Amino acid sequence: MEIVFCCLFSYMIYLAPLQGFTDFVYRKAYARIFKGVDAYFIPYISMKKDTILSKYAKEIAVINNPQARVIPQILPGNSNEMVLMAKQLKDIGYNEINLNLGCPYPMVTNRGKGSGLLPYPDKIESILTSYFEKWNSGLSVKLRAGLQSASEMEQIIPVLNKFPLKEVILHPRIAKQLYGGTILDETFLAAYKDLKLELVFNGDIFTFSDYKKRKQQFPATDKWMLGRGILMNPFLPSEINEIDLTLEIRREKLLDFHRLMLESYLEIMDNEGNALNKMKQFWFYFSYNFPNPAKALKHIKKSKNILQYKSEVKKIFYHLY
Ligand SMILES: Cc1cc2nc3c(=O)[nH]c(=O)nc-3n(C[C@H](O)[C@H](O)[C@H](O)COP(=O)(O)O)c2cc1C
Repeated sequence: MEIVFCCLFSYMIYLAPLQGFTDFVYRKAYARIFKGVDAYFIPYISMKKDTILSKYAKEIAVINNPQARVIPQILPGNSNEMVLMAKQLKDIGYNEINLNLGCPYPMVTNRGKGSGLLPYPDKIESILTSYFEKWNSGLSVKLRAGLQSASEMEQIIPVLNKFPLKEVILHPRIAKQLYGGTILDETFLAAYKDLKLELVFNGDIFTFSDYKKRKQQFPATDKWMLGRGILMNPFLPSEINEIDLTLEIRREKLLDFHRLMLESYLEIMDNEGNALNKMKQFWFYFSYNFPNPAKALKHIKKSKNILQYKSEVKKIFYHLY
């Protein structure tokens, strides 16, 4: 049945990179329990003294990324960093890499990285040139509409068009909007018109009806990147694929997913306290699977140890709050 679905609909769904949330523990557990995600993006990794920081070793280790298509994301500030990071990732075995031109935080943008590069199309061009001088494929770009203004896109699109990028993922907001405010529909439409490359839509698809609305607005788009929507409702890709699951199956899957996440964090973190903190972070979005998310999250946050935490989780799953 699933084969039929995959052939009838040619669209693709990507899991967005979300620093602190979609780490390898999440991606692995998600892929074991849920269906519908075609590619997993690793949140951005950075380097110091010409080497990828050792804190990312587990995140990018091939053994921790068994899904069919996993794409590490890099955050270089110049051509040298671009080539060094791409080479190190290719040496590990990745043949597809994503360039972050979207991170909106001043700590990053003030260093001329992420969306801090968007007002400088010449710098973007030199970074892309340095990559394509060494390799002829395997690079995609994820960007925002601009750092200060969406008009920055007008200078960037002709630059992107010069290169054989695998695809361009656009989150149509400018950096200072961070993750709120209006999605700039017109910017996405303009990019669609002017870009000669495949364009992926990303931003605020939280429900099946959000997806349907965007599909009606952008009918030619068939690649969708979802972030917070999946964190809040891991069934969203199945729902978009119009796969119906009973309430009982949904509950079992959520239980399995949670169990896998907890087991993995307990296994890889130095101590229970750190595992507990990771699970508290996970519940920031996971709580949306329950009738009263704020209340569920409040109880999870209050847990002082794993024993207490497990008892709170039980109450939430059995709808005691
Ligand atoms: C907590 C958080 C962390 C994020 N980390 C990254 C990141 O590492 N790389 C990146 O390109 N985008 C990052 N993003 C942006 C998301 O990938 C995505 O573009 C954004 O959330 C809009 O999509 P959504 O509305 O489907 O969540 C992050 C967003 C959030 C909320």
